[in-house]
Amino acid sequence: MKAELQEAISKLPRIRLANLPTPLEECPRLSKALGGPRILIKRDDLTGLAFGGNKARKYEFIMGRVKEIGADTIIHSTHPLSNEARQLSAAAAKLGISVYLVSLWDMKSRRVQGNLFLDYLLGANIIFSNWFHRNFKKELAETLCKKGHKPYIIGHYDDVLGTIAYVNCALELHDQLEELGLTPDYLVLASGGSTQAGLILGAKILQQNYKIIGFRPVKTGYQKMGLKMIKGDDDAAVAFHISELANEAAKLLGFNVTISTKDVLNYDNYVGKGYGAVTKECCEAIELVARTEGVLLDPIYTGKAMAGLIDYIRKGRISADETVVFLHTGGTPALFSYNKELVRRLGYKSKVLGDLKLKLKGWVKGLKGRIEKK
Ligand SMILES: Cc1ncc(COP(=O)(O)O)c(C=O)c1O
Repeated sequence: MKAELQEAISKLPRIRLANLPTPLEECPRLSKALGGPRILIKRDDLTGLAFGGNKARKYEFIMGRVKEIGADTIIHSTHPLSNEARQLSAAAAKLGISVYLVSLWDMKSRRVQGNLFLDYLLGANIIFSNWFHRNFKKELAETLCKKGHKPYIIGHYDDVLGTIAYVNCALELHDQLEELGLTPDYLVLASGGSTQAGLILGAKILQQNYKIIGFRPVKTGYQKMGLKMIKGDDDAAVAFHISELANEAAKLLGFNVTISTKDVLNYDNYVGKGYGAVTKECCEAIELVARTEGVLLDPIYTGKAMAGLIDYIRKGRISADETVVFLHTGGTPALFSYNKELVRRLGYKSKVLGDLKLKLKGWVKGLKGRIEKK
């Protein structure tokens, strides 16, 4: 099956943009600190493309399609905190393609920091709007066409390509595990969509038996995003969305494999108050991984997924004799957009050697004395 899968993927247009394969690193100090399972981190934060992340793999396939179609401009809906926007902007800069990011106007996150700063730096055209709908993108595309451009609007098919990018990651992981002689029990990641869909499909085709647990960064939102919904709770709706993506990808690759909602384990227990809301557990997880492994997580996606993994270990849902692979999907520029909040919550203070106040008082006194003498 491996060769067939490789061949099917190789038929899709693709432009190499990411540094692959990403390393699979042992985390002995993190495992020890948790008194628990063997933990490895699959470092997709090291894909390259403006600080790395899961979207580097996705844009290899999207850019392949964009080039094949002959488009010269890409239009996408985005958010000031979006990692996808940053990696799209970087890929487009590298290939000489223009980018228009139609961004949700959000008072809290409009500060030109983190990803938004990098989008500007990478040359993206950013249009903030109060409304967030397809019509604006269509109108923009029409205007660009009139000016002689060939725009491409990112849509659902691109999420299917993103799913295939992670089927490819499952292939990569399969080889790395084989080399290490490892059969992990769990693969844990931050996802509410194509990343998990691709890994589930890839693992099924390659007959890998690890459980794939996705912790998503949002509580709700699928209705708002206009995706299909089924009756039931959020977990059921997300499982449906992820299984659909996996099945569409299977079809596109020509594999007669079906992923059901029961194959999808995706939860929102570690989101906190909502998307982008920093939680105490996520801060602790970020600090623990930084101090045990020197690996940086982010407060929106990977920090929360790691908080989930830590909680599962502490509660004994994952036991000490099991093996876990944690997929690091990137997102680290958010450390800088959230700098103030993280510093406050983690209680970091810069200390100066000696008592600066006393020293200053002494200097001022000396200066006054000299002035008086004159
Ligand atoms: C850093 C990071 N991790 C994980 C994800 C989840 O990706 P998806 O839900 O598309 O699988 C995203 C999405 O933007 C992300 O930026």
